[in-house]
Amino acid sequence: MLHSAVLNVMIKAAHRAGRSLKRDLGEVEQLQVSVKGPGNFVTAADRRAEEIVREELAKARPAYGFLGEEGGVREGSDKTHRWIVDPLDGTTNFLHGIPHFAVSIALERGGAIVAGLTYNPANDELFVAERGKGAFLNNQRIRVAARRRVGDAIVGCGLPHYGRGDLRLSRYEIAAAQQNFAGLRRYGSATLDLAWVAAGRLDAYWERDLSPWDMAAGVLLLREAGGFATDLDGGEAIFAKGQIAAGNETMHRELVRLLREAGKEAAAPAAIAEAK
Ligand code: IPD
Ligand code: CA
Ligand code: CA
Repeated sequence: MLHSAVLNVMIKAAHRAGRSLKRDLGEVEQLQVSVKGPGNFVTAADRRAEEIVREELAKARPAYGFLGEEGGVREGSDKTHRWIVDPLDGTTNFLHGIPHFAVSIALERGGAIVAGLTYNPANDELFVAERGKGAFLNNQRIRVAARRRVGDAIVGCGLPHYGRGDLRLSRYEIAAAQQNFAGLRRYGSATLDLAWVAAGRLDAYWERDLSPWDMAAGVLLLREAGGFATDLDGGEAIFAKGQIAAGNETMHRELVRLLREAGKEAAAPAAIAEAK
């Protein structure tokens, strides 16, 4: 398939950063057995990857703005274009030598995401999408799964860390998912979760407390693969609320419904008493 010039720029940046992360993953594996652990090394690997992405993108499009997880906001002279980058999504996996993490790059034009890429250097899987042109995994067109029965579906999620987010609510949501879906997964990379829904590997996915760089590329991938994504109330405020529910039309609708029910149960006085 023929990519646009700008997508080629994004792919080049992701491949370069990916090579750096893959090299560093080898080092991380060695550091597992050291007393100090790989913590500081991973922070440096993360920053290095963002610097590589930023440098590559700036070389090709010097005027565009940049929003990166590590380096924050850099204003560009071109106010209509902005890169949104997570150089390493799935840091906890990376830290433990688990080969499930990704470089995520999205291009925003006039407030809308027009190109997105999610690249897992560990297995060389490259997911790309441009608005109106479909979604691809290593040059093969991808589509969301066609499954219609909730009882057959595998659903991905993100879980709040202890002390962050609403742990009690998440327990009700997990219980609802366990009772209704065939399986629940927590893989640890939001951008890959969305790409995997786009590729039909997961039937649906939800998570709260996310940042724009976790979702920007994945939302486009998902929609270009024929999927549906909203905030957890079924509205458009994915980025404003930092939360997402995704799937094919049926799975997305059912997921939003189940999560709403779980929310009501969690807020009921009986549930609150029980949780105390
Ligand atoms: C995290 C991952 C994870 C999600 C977290 C994110 P990071 O991003 O996407 O799956 O559950 O909420 O913050 O920290 O690895 O870039
Ligand atoms: Ca992230
Ligand atoms: Ca990150």
